[in-house]
Amino acid sequence: MTPMIPVNEPLLGEREAEYMMECLHTGWISSAGRFIAEFESRWAEYCGMRYGVAVSNGTVALEVAVRCLDLQPGAEVIMPTFTIISCAQAVVYAGGVPVVVDSGPRTWTMDVGQIEDKITARTRAIMPVHIYGHPVDMDPVRTLAKKYNLRIIEDAAEAHGAEYHGQKCGGLGDISCFSFYANKIITTGEGGMVLTNSANYAEKARSLRNLCFRPERRFYHTELGHNYRLTNLQAAIGLAQLERIDELVTLKRRMAAVYNEGLGRVPGLTLPVEEPWATNVYWMYGILLDETLGFDATDFAQRLKKRGVDTRPFFLPMHQQPVFHRMGLFPRGEAYPVAERLGKYGLYLPSGLAITDSQIAYVCDVVRSELTG
Ligand SMILES: Cc1ncc(COP(=O)(O)O)c(C=O)c1O
Repeated sequence: MTPMIPVNEPLLGEREAEYMMECLHTGWISSAGRFIAEFESRWAEYCGMRYGVAVSNGTVALEVAVRCLDLQPGAEVIMPTFTIISCAQAVVYAGGVPVVVDSGPRTWTMDVGQIEDKITARTRAIMPVHIYGHPVDMDPVRTLAKKYNLRIIEDAAEAHGAEYHGQKCGGLGDISCFSFYANKIITTGEGGMVLTNSANYAEKARSLRNLCFRPERRFYHTELGHNYRLTNLQAAIGLAQLERIDELVTLKRRMAAVYNEGLGRVPGLTLPVEEPWATNVYWMYGILLDETLGFDATDFAQRLKKRGVDTRPFFLPMHQQPVFHRMGLFPRGEAYPVAERLGKYGLYLPSGLAITDSQIAYVCDVVRSELTG
């Protein structure tokens, strides 16, 4: 039987083990210890932000970020429909309303030209999401935020090290969020972080992460929070990973170059792009099938799996989620054709940091032969 090429395999080294062992030997295994503070400050500094607040995953990073805004009931947050449910549910949990726009056909990130039409008197924030490692075109987002006095919550969960006009993603808004799940460019197993330049947001995020204990009197509460703490063990891995971020980003960009070379002339495919103003970190190497091929990404994924190539489908857009229809969100008549096409015909190929050139060559051969017969 052909061995399966996994869609992701993390790259963990000796330094990660050394730092983990330090936690075990010193007993600092919960959410206090030197690695947490160091990971927070070093990651914030890398992204060009003042404060970092480490949390248990990227989903709760978004929840904390949205709660920092103190939304009034019914306040609206504009985001792409083509994203993970974590974005929309963070707004719903905070009592707000997610409002969506379509994706651009080239970068698959939110079509920033559609945002202004969606702004109402209730709009409070814009949530750009850097999809699969490619930055959103942030200047128009920032212009609108200024014009309408809106906050920007940047979801950079897939964009560690990506740049917009030379500035790091995660340093481009009022608050940004990262995930450090095992398939991310920097991983802590499970983990996340909120970054901001605002001392107020940072204090609020720290409080929400830790059950809103009051600093002056423990076990006394004026607000409800969560236990969303990251452990020192996880931060130890994160810090070791962060020390080699340049190498990890180079590996991703190299992987994409090898895929581009292997798939560039295959008919029926749209490949990831890199706009002139962007540094794409190709978190996952996504491909989009032409509708004219006569099959969708689900069929194609099954065919690849039979030949030992594991893949994942693209996101199913938020406006197509039954759970949100039940809540009366996203009226059925609204069409987002680019996102719908991505959801139906998009999938990503094995893209882990540990992937080898010969594995990529094999994946390209399989894709090519499945499409050209
Ligand atoms: C764009 C985006 N935002 C948020 C998340 C949530 O992160 P986590 O899986 O750590 O909860 C993900 C997860 O992959 C993501 O892709």
